[in-house]
Amino acid sequence: MKLSLSILNADLSRLHETIMGLADLVDYVHFDVMDGHFVPNLTFGPVLPNALRDKIAIPFDIHLMVDQPALYAPRFSVRPDDVVIFHVEALDPPDEAIAAIRRLGCRVGVSLRPRTPLSVLEPWLPQVDWILLMSVEPGFGGQAFLPESLERLRQLRAKIAGRPITLAVDGGIGPGNVRTVLDAGAELVVVGAAIFRAPDPRQAVLELWKAAGRPRD
Ligand code: DX5
Ligand code: ZN
Repeated sequence: MKLSLSILNADLSRLHETIMGLADLVDYVHFDVMDGHFVPNLTFGPVLPNALRDKIAIPFDIHLMVDQPALYAPRFSVRPDDVVIFHVEALDPPDEAIAAIRRLGCRVGVSLRPRTPLSVLEPWLPQVDWILLMSVEPGFGGQAFLPESLERLRQLRAKIAGRPITLAVDGGIGPGNVRTVLDAGAELVVVGAAIFRAPDPRQAVLELWKAAGRPRD
């Protein structure tokens, strides 16, 4: 398993310190960028991940919940092993979003909402490095995992076949369901609320790894 730390529900006033305190236990830091149009919530733009980029060695995965990913992707300072993820339902055409992210020199991810048919991804499979399956409606942390996501994961795993695509899942994952999510075919889980709403976030990450029953990839 790989674990990405979603910082949406972290204490943003001491974000750097919080990430560094968990750095040995996580594989990515996940940034939820929301524009108030694509989703009914506003978070932050490039300024936050850009401010942290040179201070943190862990790769970033930047989840663009915005209508114009091709417009905004070039404003992120990224490293080659970072991932910038656009939504297939955004207004910008996927080929333009993919080209804009590729020009940054990092990896390309595509995400889809829980009700978007998986077939919509098919044309883009040869061009992406990650698929981020949403297991909650995007917009807010701390929502309940949608159980139909498990069947979607199984189907996506079959569609990916032998392609070098990382299958990631985002939303509602914690110690109670992480093993089921992995068994359905996910390789990477994004986790926020189960860590940051726990009394001791470090203990919560350790419990998550234990519940996963998998070594770190
Ligand atoms: C939801 C976000 C998720 C969220 C993580 O729009 O994309 O990344 O922060 O989900 P929880 O908080 O449920 O772990
Ligand atoms: Zn996210």
